[in-house]
Amino acid sequence: MAETLILPESKEKKEVYETIIPQIEALISGETDYVANMANVAAALREAFGFFWVGFYSVKNGELVLGPFQGPIACTRIRKGKGVCGTSWDKAETIVVEDVDAFPGHIACSSASRSEIVVPGFNQQGEVAFILDIDSDELGSFDEADKEGLEKLMRRVEKLLQ
Ligand code: SME
Repeated sequence: MAETLILPESKEKKEVYETIIPQIEALISGETDYVANMANVAAALREAFGFFWVGFYSVKNGELVLGPFQGPIACTRIRKGKGVCGTSWDKAETIVVEDVDAFPGHIACSSASRSEIVVPGFNQQGEVAFILDIDSDELGSFDEADKEGLEKLMRRVEKLLQ
């Protein structure tokens, strides 16, 4: 297991994602416990990008339930279709929110959160099994490079996160 995350000198998002995705895969591929793996993925993303909040919610008994995260304390349960997370689950697609105040029904776990991206992870039946949620304390932090990078990461590691 790699114990240190090696980051590129460039801060260009695409390059950072390309550098960290294989390292994250290597980091968690020897472990079968999904909580341990979610914890290390959240920590690696926080270390690489300095995100304000990064973490997971798993689908359990018809609700999203808070999993491992890095950042301030957060709400524990989210219903399908509620907030950005519940909407991403419902639509089974990534949602990029440039300004959380402009997203109807946004759930403000922290008043400091200004923009957000939520990426679903799928089980073998193609259903959403969990979501990855990342918050920024600045407006418009997430773009197509984050969507592409995080979706690529999820396709590579989602089996190890459930
Ligand atoms: N803002 C999210 C709730 C989760 S927290 O941001 C950690 C939402 O609207 O679903």
